[in-house]
Amino acid sequence: MSSLNADIQARFGIEAPADIETELSSEASASLSRILGRRSFRRFTDEPVSEALRTTLLACAQSASAKSDLQQYSILDLRDPAKKAAMAELCDTGWMADAPVLLVFCGDMRRGQRVCDMRGYAHAQNTLDSFMNAAVDAALAMQAMILASEAAGLGCCCISQVRKRLPQVAELLGLPHGVFPIAGFAAGWPNETRDVTRRLPPSVVVHRDTYDDTDLAAGIDQYDQTRHAARPLGNQINPEKFGTAAFYGWSENAARRLSEPSDLGGLRAYLETHGFDFA
Ligand SMILES: Cc1cc2nc3c(=O)[nH]c(=O)nc-3n(C[C@H](O)[C@H](O)[C@H](O)COP(=O)(O)O)c2cc1C
Repeated sequence: MSSLNADIQARFGIEAPADIETELSSEASASLSRILGRRSFRRFTDEPVSEALRTTLLACAQSASAKSDLQQYSILDLRDPAKKAAMAELCDTGWMADAPVLLVFCGDMRRGQRVCDMRGYAHAQNTLDSFMNAAVDAALAMQAMILASEAAGLGCCCISQVRKRLPQVAELLGLPHGVFPIAGFAAGWPNETRDVTRRLPPSVVVHRDTYDDTDLAAGIDQYDQTRHAARPLGNQINPEKFGTAAFYGWSENAARRLSEPSDLGGLRAYLETHGFDFA
């Protein structure tokens, strides 16, 4: 079996497709292999990340596609240890403070509003669509940052917990109206071993020509079983409320999680009081 097929097998736990590697250069295979084997890291050595590497990785992040070339996002690069510690506390995520690289990716409608102002035009796109475009631009830049960091040998992890206490985070980072955090991003030289996390079978996620989830239950069941066999989930969510399941697969965990309100629930109130009209 080629190494790419082995990567696919490890990612999904299902039969890999016919040998693909003959179609690819060794550089292309190596790039795809890195993507297939990616995983999040949350523990880092003390070794710093050089300025040259940071600058290069941020340039990679900014090389992501952006809707209509409007580039409606900003990246906060946190260097001040006191500020990093304060962020970690606001996010209830202690390990963030020790990450050599700590960024916050933000959707940014404000820059476009200012550009309109500079050119003497009224900004007319304070809409739900603008909000989504800014969020998508920020997410794509973050994904480019992830892939670039991993290509350089760093480990990294996104942090949605930056949205746990939005008003306080905005104050700490000086975020003006029109700017909202989508996620934090921590990176450094890995100091832990992590496994690849199994993903849903492509048959569940990829729909050919027409959306069709007729076989969802069977696909989820297969995923629950193969994922459990590879690496069972640890603690069950809230057994006092939901009981202790004899078999605790991904779907039980996901359903328990989704049946309770998220602790990141303050986004609408934050946006409505920070410059977004959703017109
Ligand atoms: C947008 C986003 C937000 C995330 N937020 C957190 C977080 O707040 N804390 C955390 O420990 N991991 C966070 N993660 C990491 C996910 O838990 C992780 O990607 C997922 O469990 C799959 O593991 P893998 O990345 O190793 O494949 C986040 C990932 C994404 C994409």
